[in-house]
Amino acid sequence: MDMKEAVFSRHSVRKYTDKKLPGEVIEKLNGLIEEYNAEGGLSIRLVTDEPKSFSGFMAHYGGFSGVANYFAMIGAPKEDLDELIGYYGEKLVLASQEMGLNTCWVALTYSKRPVAMERGEKLLCVISVGYGENQGKPHRSKPLSSLCRCEGEMPEWFRRGMEFVCQAPTAMNQQRFLFTLSGGKVNARSKGGSCAKIDLGIAKLHFELGAGKENFEWA
Ligand SMILES: Cc1cc2nc3c(=O)[nH]c(=O)nc-3n(C[C@H](O)[C@H](O)[C@H](O)COP(=O)(O)O)c2cc1C
Repeated sequence: MDMKEAVFSRHSVRKYTDKKLPGEVIEKLNGLIEEYNAEGGLSIRLVTDEPKSFSGFMAHYGGFSGVANYFAMIGAPKEDLDELIGYYGEKLVLASQEMGLNTCWVALTYSKRPVAMERGEKLLCVISVGYGENQGKPHRSKPLSSLCRCEGEMPEWFRRGMEFVCQAPTAMNQQRFLFTLSGGKVNARSKGGSCAKIDLGIAKLHFELGAGKENFEWA
């Protein structure tokens, strides 16, 4: 499986088995985290064998069970922090899927308290990771045409980009963004809502994977 295939097989999984992450899997994930932190100026960390963040009322209410590992999505405050967290977090989600793991983005239904933080850092959300009891199920998507606008006829690469965007996870499945092709460039903007900028970063990664970075430029 490659990252593009992972886009279509990934669904949020909230129930996990007690199978631990093997040492080589942890090493591989930490290698990717190091690369993405350097690229995006972020401080993402993988936390393993820590069930406390998902053992309270909120996690139970959210339908989570067996979560013992998660990516803590951390960075120093800056204007584009949320979008970068979305973009690089989704890279980790898709890489995890490729490795046979399951994930779920979680901004609300967990407890922040057990996550170790340093001064000046901001924890935006976490992403649970582990071996799922199931593979989740596809979400309902808004029609592709309602998520984008095109000057003239829609090029095939743009349509493919939008097909990948429709698969992107978003907070409460809100899909509140608009992709516009104008003057040969693609503009992606959020229409607001909770976690909207994280959602936008996730969706932009999906667009790049579907459309092919060589076919367009961001406006
Ligand atoms: C930024 C973000 C935050 C999320 N927060 C939560 C959460 O707090 N609790 C939860 O159960 N799911 C959460 N989700 C998962 C979404 O509900 C899920 O991605 C969406 O319903 C689409 O389903 P899918 O991921 O299976 O495609 C979050 C997703 C994103 C992208």
